[in-house]
Amino acid sequence: MCGIVGYIGHRNAVPILVKGLEHLEYRGYDSAGIACLNLEKENLFIKKEKGKLSELKRELEKHPAYAQIGIGHTRWATHGEPSKLNAHPHVDDKSKIILVHNGIIENHSDLKRELQAKGHRFFSGTDTEVAVNLIASYYKKNNFVEAFRKAISRLQGFYAFVALDKSDPDTLYVFKRSNPLVIGLGKGENFVASDTPALLPFTSDVVFLEDDEYAVLTKDKVKIFSLATGRMIKRHSTRIKWNMAQAQKGGYPHFMLKEIYEQPTVLQEAFNRITNKEDVIRFENMTPRIENRLRKIRKVFMVSCGTAYHAGLTGCLWMEQNAGIPSEARVSSEFRYQKPIVTKNDLVILITQSGETADTLAALREAKTHGAMTLAVVNVLGSTIAREADYTIYTHAGPEIGVASTKAYTAQLVTLVFLSLYMARIKKTLSSRQIAGYLDSIRKLPKACSKALKQSTAIINCAKHQYRRHSFLYIGRGVNFPVALEGALKLKEISYAHAHGYAAGEMKHGPIALIDKNQPVICIAPHSKTRDKMLSNVEEIRARKGIVIAIGTENDKELKKISSYFIPVPKVDESLSAIIAVIPLQLFAYHVAVLNRRDVDQPRNLAKSVTVE
Ligand code: F6R
Repeated sequence: MCGIVGYIGHRNAVPILVKGLEHLEYRGYDSAGIACLNLEKENLFIKKEKGKLSELKRELEKHPAYAQIGIGHTRWATHGEPSKLNAHPHVDDKSKIILVHNGIIENHSDLKRELQAKGHRFFSGTDTEVAVNLIASYYKKNNFVEAFRKAISRLQGFYAFVALDKSDPDTLYVFKRSNPLVIGLGKGENFVASDTPALLPFTSDVVFLEDDEYAVLTKDKVKIFSLATGRMIKRHSTRIKWNMAQAQKGGYPHFMLKEIYEQPTVLQEAFNRITNKEDVIRFENMTPRIENRLRKIRKVFMVSCGTAYHAGLTGCLWMEQNAGIPSEARVSSEFRYQKPIVTKNDLVILITQSGETADTLAALREAKTHGAMTLAVVNVLGSTIAREADYTIYTHAGPEIGVASTKAYTAQLVTLVFLSLYMARIKKTLSSRQIAGYLDSIRKLPKACSKALKQSTAIINCAKHQYRRHSFLYIGRGVNFPVALEGALKLKEISYAHAHGYAAGEMKHGPIALIDKNQPVICIAPHSKTRDKMLSNVEEIRARKGIVIAIGTENDKELKKISSYFIPVPKVDESLSAIIAVIPLQLFAYHVAVLNRRDVDQPRNLAKSVTVE
């Protein structure tokens, strides 16, 4: 949460910082600000505004600035309400040091008391102001690095910093502990940001900072040091293959819609990447040693949050059915505190789009303390979880900017189904023929996904009739139960309507009491062993005059007849139907949100990357 940027070079820093923040706004958007040091006039320029980046941009148009070094921030409030006063950057009470910060300083109250006793004054409600005053309190003889290191050694928690020293307008200082920071390399200029999309307009060559490393950036050099030893570290740069077009809307009104429509391509690319002509499933960087370890796995945990947790629920079903390995999906924030019974014979799979989710990262570290093998399914290249896991499979869905996850989810699903088949091969639970048959079904998914996307007219029609309702139920069975949870999450996060997903068999155990003529129920009932049971659920809802919005296989006349709305999806293999059935639910959530005039890509109170507990 929160996005931070920094620039030093030969160009005007202001538009560069603003452009970077535009690409980080998904991380938080309750206020934004920049600070620049004007070399010629030797003065500090700070502009902050409450609200979205557009507010800050408006102010910057009225008060243009020119500087060749600066830092910027887009905020998701943790300590201190969203306000101009609490917006970053923050300065110490003598305005010597300027800081932007992502994360939480856990011992900020104690430190604040200590600093107050020494005469420091505070104006905001943020923990960042404590950090910047602490750095200032150690600042002597223009030795910023020493002050920075001393302060960091006392700041508990997880955070990333970009800082300026007013007396040294030729240097940017950055530090990372658990929260992400990427350095972008240019010619006669260097950049830093919380995430690579903010760097892509300027450079594709990046260096990932590791935890407890700080870096000193001038326009011509980037030097990385270990916090513990103070020694310089050599780090090779990485070339990012994502391009700018992928990080733009490309004619769509919202990133979310663009990302929904990218799903056939994401599925096709996953298929091309992971399988070869001989129907062999291969993952990048797999080694015989890793395969050997995987062969010995007795139990699998899939640990993740939100949408990624829903992918984990489905992934566990596949892992059990295909590879015969007992599998459990757990929510990361629970897993990390549950004292889970995990052994060295277990595989803990961390599923995460961003690769930075604080609870999932903590779960990964917890799993490691038990000696378990850790495998990350991650979208963002070079992210912390990707780097810390024993083995990482990238989902390669491209940048996902919309806060509501769509293409990253289907990419996670298809990766997990491939992983279950890979495990089935090495565990010998499925024959080569069976696996080849399964791959034939997966091969059909991109086309089926394109076809499902063609139903947008029927979905918009249904959304137009139902968008004012305040409560929605979603029900499904088997692989489509997690889809019900995911459909409900999508709707609530971007439309703010209450939505709840249930296993359809649970209806009679409580939720059926909610059914009346005003209650829409989205019934996910594609062709499957349990389709008839779903039809009984539909009848029960109808008998109580509920509004049935059915997702069914395209030729299912019977279901169509008993539903208030029928959204057809193409027939695919039952166990893969989750990957297709979610498409109309994403579109439904999107159109309900648009009709309610919600901010689809940046829904209130949310941020894309949850880097605090
Ligand atoms: C919902 C959504 C969130 C994320 C969750 C985990 O649309 O995007 O629920 O799935 O915050 O994030 P990652 O996958 O980055 O760990």
